[in-house]
Amino acid sequence: MKRIIVLLCLFAFLFGGASALFATGEPEDDGELVIGLSLPTQREERWVRDRETMEAYAEELGVDLRIQVADANTAEQTAQVENLFAQGIDVLILAPHDAAAAASLVDQAEDEGIPVISYDRLITNTPNLDVYLSFDNVGVGRIQGEFFVNNVPDGSNIIILAGAPTDNNAFLFKEGAMEFIQPKIDSGAYTVVADQFVDNWLPENALAIVENALTTAGNDVQGILAPNDGTAGGAIVALEAQGLAGDVVITGQDASLAGARRIVEGTQGMTVFKDTRELGRAAIDAAIALASGEDLDFNGAVDNQVFDVPSILLTPFSVESDNIEEVLVDSGYLSRSEVFGN
Ligand code: GAL
Repeated sequence: MKRIIVLLCLFAFLFGGASALFATGEPEDDGELVIGLSLPTQREERWVRDRETMEAYAEELGVDLRIQVADANTAEQTAQVENLFAQGIDVLILAPHDAAAAASLVDQAEDEGIPVISYDRLITNTPNLDVYLSFDNVGVGRIQGEFFVNNVPDGSNIIILAGAPTDNNAFLFKEGAMEFIQPKIDSGAYTVVADQFVDNWLPENALAIVENALTTAGNDVQGILAPNDGTAGGAIVALEAQGLAGDVVITGQDASLAGARRIVEGTQGMTVFKDTRELGRAAIDAAIALASGEDLDFNGAVDNQVFDVPSILLTPFSVESDNIEEVLVDSGYLSRSEVFGN
């Protein structure tokens, strides 16, 4: 009996040793699909939802999703994506912190035969993208711009904020909004007090810009185009300090809880609802399709300065005080008690 046990142990040792000997350091390919996901940040609530949705959906479908989150830092995101390549991912979902800097990662993926989905934010300066999956972002800007001109009267002084200059979305949002606002500026109906991009989308940067602009204009400002709820929040802090919160028309985007609550209390005029639950699931579906060589259903194309990237663009919705319950609560995106505090 003892001898059998010793033999078994020896066999196990030799077998284990041999498999270790033949291990090459390459990730094992057991046939299971491995998706890499690189997100730029978790600062805004929406990015947390994107991550949570994809995590849950991947688990439901039984695919291996490897997630990396960079803290709005290009070097960090680059290192994280290279790490995903080393893990042997089959497909990459990449939401870039810096649109142009991420091009080299896409080119590297192409060399390794890994398809790339540009998620929410477009990666510019590369011919190697497979798909841009996002919302109609010029449409987001149009929703903001239309609300703005409908609510800011002629004869107003205005502040124009745009998102981070490293994020291609910032330009698309602004393009859409200015379709409505620029004619008002050209006709002299609006006077622009400040027109600036907000580095890294940081609320504190928006706060500083608005604080300065209010000083310059002697607090005589009637409208602020804010590209998302985070920057709107920063701008509203600056307004509060001057006793102006609620008196100045201000836009937003992302249907964050803070933004929704400000709409209810009357300090923010609107937000834009982009259902990140839908976007997240669409990304996993697209990743699976790409990995198995299937065609995707595109409904648009967006120029990334090299080519028109085949795109899947979801629809954004305007949220104001009169439809907030229907759009955000009834859809289950936010809870009634969170939004209305009861
Ligand atoms: C944009 C995104 C917005 C907002 C912003 C700041 O690219 O589309 O929803 O979250 O980044 O992260």
